[in-house]
Amino acid sequence: MSHKITIQPDGVIFDLKSSQTILEGAIAAGITIPYGCRNGACGSCKAKVLSGKVHCEEFQQSAMTDDEQENGWTLCCKAYATEDVTIEARISKTNSDIPQSKITPVRVEALEKLNHDVMRMYLKLPGNEKLNFIAGQYIEFIMADGSRRAFSIASPPHAPLIELHLRLIEGGKFTHFVFEEMQEKSIHRIEGPIGQFFLRESEKPIIFVSGGTGFAPIKSVIEDMFEKGNQRTIYLYQGVRKFEDLYMDELCQSWNQKYSNFNYIPVFSEIEENPNNLRTGFVHQAVIDDFQLLADYQVYCCGAPILVETAFNDFVKNGLLEDEFFADAFSFAPPKPKL
Ligand code: FES
Repeated sequence: MSHKITIQPDGVIFDLKSSQTILEGAIAAGITIPYGCRNGACGSCKAKVLSGKVHCEEFQQSAMTDDEQENGWTLCCKAYATEDVTIEARISKTNSDIPQSKITPVRVEALEKLNHDVMRMYLKLPGNEKLNFIAGQYIEFIMADGSRRAFSIASPPHAPLIELHLRLIEGGKFTHFVFEEMQEKSIHRIEGPIGQFFLRESEKPIIFVSGGTGFAPIKSVIEDMFEKGNQRTIYLYQGVRKFEDLYMDELCQSWNQKYSNFNYIPVFSEIEENPNNLRTGFVHQAVIDDFQLLADYQVYCCGAPILVETAFNDFVKNGLLEDEFFADAFSFAPPKPKL
């Protein structure tokens, strides 16, 4: 069974199967609605329902408030149509610039522990193929049972291999498999690139706020900026609980030495002794303490949904324009269902 979805103001129409979310159906029809996490956490795919009924599955308040939902808004990545529906949504202007995602086999080239609970994985496509992606996008591992796990690409597009950072999640089947059983040279299937978390053109200085492995897409974007000689001022706030949770600290310190437009601020939320005067507290609070007024900045935030939600709310209260906040909050999201 399918329903007709109309997207206004462009008047674009496509058929949506009852098993698909509006976002899945749009992507399958080659229509790019803005999206980020595909998991009800970032709000990028928010759209107004003009007519018809949708059923919206569970989502984060950071993505859409209950008030907004009551006023007819929905999240396309969580919304199923129960009849023909018309929505109002921006169709991405960069549609043709965003590489098409594809399903491809990959070989695990290397696995390397970066700290006590983060693994770096390098993936290689067959032959001389390279994944065509924009820095900040992600890929999905497709499991044998068809379920998927999403991971941001940590390498920049010019790098020869795809780099991922995987944090060991307690009880997480996939990450336990990676840490305990996955073999180098083993073959898997991925789909990618996916997502619209990438650098937006602007002259404004950039504040990157990262929690844990939320650093991965940020690393990709920053290394791409360096490669292209982008001179915008960069502040990287890297939030972790304890010193042992920090990873790739040396890399960030080396950027600090090498690039005059780059500033690195690691922030620790749970250290007991602090002889070296490290920045402590919540990472988003460190940003507020340093800038007070955020009207002239762009913010890119990656990490747990609670970090993204809190940062968005508090930064907007401190003057950040809502559409200058970009997030990809799926680092700790539950496994995605089969598509
Ligand atoms: S909330 Fe739908 S893509 Fe993030």
